[in-house]
Amino acid sequence: MAHTSDRIAEDILGYLKSHETKSLLRFITCGSVDDGKSTLIGRLLFESKMIFEDQLAALEADSKRIGTQGEEIDFALLVDGLAAEREQGITIDVAYRFFSTDRRKFIVADTPGHEQYTRNMATGASTADVAILMIDARKGILTQTRRHSFIVSLLGIRHVVLAINKLDLVGYDRAVYEAIVEAYRDFAAPLDFASITPIPISALRGDNITDKSGETPWYHGPTLMAYLETVDIADDASGAPFRMPVQWVNRPDLDFRGFSGMIASGTLRPGDTVKSLPSSKSSTVKSIVTMGGDLAMATAGQSVTVTLDDEIDVSRGDVLCAANDPAPAADQFQATILWMNEQEMLPGRTYLMKTGATTAQATIATPKYAIDVNTMEHLAAKTLSLNEIGVCNLNLDRTIAFEAYGDNRAMGCFILIDRLSNETVGCGMIDFALRRASNIHRQALVVDKAARAELKGQKAVMLWFTGLSGSGKSTIANALEQKLLAMGRHTYILDGDNVRHGLNKDLGFTDADRVENIRRVSEVGRLMVDAGLITLVSFISPFRSERRMARQMMEEGEFVEVHVDTPLEIAEERDVKGLYKKARRGEIKNFTGIDSPYEPPLDPEIRLATTDQTPDEAADRLLAFLREKGYLA
Ligand code: ADX
Repeated sequence: MAHTSDRIAEDILGYLKSHETKSLLRFITCGSVDDGKSTLIGRLLFESKMIFEDQLAALEADSKRIGTQGEEIDFALLVDGLAAEREQGITIDVAYRFFSTDRRKFIVADTPGHEQYTRNMATGASTADVAILMIDARKGILTQTRRHSFIVSLLGIRHVVLAINKLDLVGYDRAVYEAIVEAYRDFAAPLDFASITPIPISALRGDNITDKSGETPWYHGPTLMAYLETVDIADDASGAPFRMPVQWVNRPDLDFRGFSGMIASGTLRPGDTVKSLPSSKSSTVKSIVTMGGDLAMATAGQSVTVTLDDEIDVSRGDVLCAANDPAPAADQFQATILWMNEQEMLPGRTYLMKTGATTAQATIATPKYAIDVNTMEHLAAKTLSLNEIGVCNLNLDRTIAFEAYGDNRAMGCFILIDRLSNETVGCGMIDFALRRASNIHRQALVVDKAARAELKGQKAVMLWFTGLSGSGKSTIANALEQKLLAMGRHTYILDGDNVRHGLNKDLGFTDADRVENIRRVSEVGRLMVDAGLITLVSFISPFRSERRMARQMMEEGEFVEVHVDTPLEIAEERDVKGLYKKARRGEIKNFTGIDSPYEPPLDPEIRLATTDQTPDEAADRLLAFLREKGYLA
């Protein structure tokens, strides 16, 4: 870095200062290695002199030794060399590289091109301002180009460069270039990009990268570097209404209370009236505090701490908004979801949804459709698998402030997290809020659960029996119900086999169907408890996540998890219904314990080992438990 090292030596503070004030452009390159992506990035790093001298010497030596370019430097080696860490499979496969010129700083996200890497590409694209789509002039627009364009548009990148590469290999033929540009403009019209800038290049030879090429006298646009240095990305975020998700409440002592976060859109000045969502309480801004002192104005992208004139209740995850133009708030949405986990999405399951600073529980409905990322066609879908994109409705456990992703990327994007494994399983973009159920209010009833149960001389409760098929759940539940009946108690048994003949006869045994099976029976069970009944639920209910959902629906002390803990060998040996034999022969698919998982409870209220007690003894134990805990008072 000869030119910069002199400058650093002479005036390091000046050098750092100039870096600080330069604007930053984030971009993503899309294309496969064959399209010349690595060569292009290597060339940009080289021409911006961001390759250290020792790296350059090594590169020249390697190029001669193993490069594909004879005596010339093989720039692809540089990037592929830097990417060696990728082969070790560390974290997600997006390599971010930094370089700068006198006018701007750049961060380029380099992501793999194949379809199975859609999630990586989305990760790289989610923060980018510009996408460079690499086209091999000999091949023209490929399926992959269309897929990349679609994802880029979906993730809200407004500016696209069509880098038509390897023009040297088609003799710098203007007609070839123009045909590709025209075909692309036709294809991309519905994607609504703010700008499409085609540039004829040869990354290998350096044509139109930093210097205008003598080979393309017919081309009058900017070089790639000139474009990147000057493209106007000042988004309208600063002109939009003020929004700031509160990352944390800063309260070092009793005298100071500030709300910290990054301004997602708009501008803020002391004296402005802001409204906190979802509480809708308003106050005026007293000061805007930063490390560098108080500000007279702050704008989108800045991280600040805001103090208010009144002590209104604002917590982490709330959103401060312009009071005269607050963000909408809702608890049901349509969203476009990209699934990022090996295990497919389970409609009906509750995931954690994290947006801005808020976390809510979100139940995802069966997709309305999936999208073929290669053709943009809508496909019928029951779920989403790894790297699939689909449109689904989401139902949240609370109201959140939001903005449609198309209006505000920061306020409209979210990630989905598995509640048990804590893995990020998907990401999404809010399309719009649904107002479906907002006009349905709960009807207050005079006679309540306690009154109904008291009449029966009992406390309502849900006994949730879980265990393998043939473990003895139904047998024990039956024995218990007979004893309760003999004592004059009011009970009901919800049994998997029976409910599957009626309410749930449309469901099979895929993971998704089991999730829905349990969701429905939890709701029915809750109504029965509300009716004051001692409700016995006997379902395999193989997943912790759904058992936990059922527990959370109930009030404290109303849910008793009973693990009928029969080892698989014993259940299979008993094989009361002959189903294990069929499953082993492959005649039944997705059989619990054979080719479908069972997740035993970690902390059930009661564990019944059925190998050392009879069903009658097990029922007596449950009865004793109910007595002891006051359910039969
Ligand atoms: S759950 O997994 O969705 O909770 P549920 O308790 O409703 O299952 O139904 C299980 C009953 O369905 C079993 O007791 C068995 O009789 C029957 N069955 C049929 N096919 C399967 C299967 N593939 N896996 C488990 N049970 C099955």
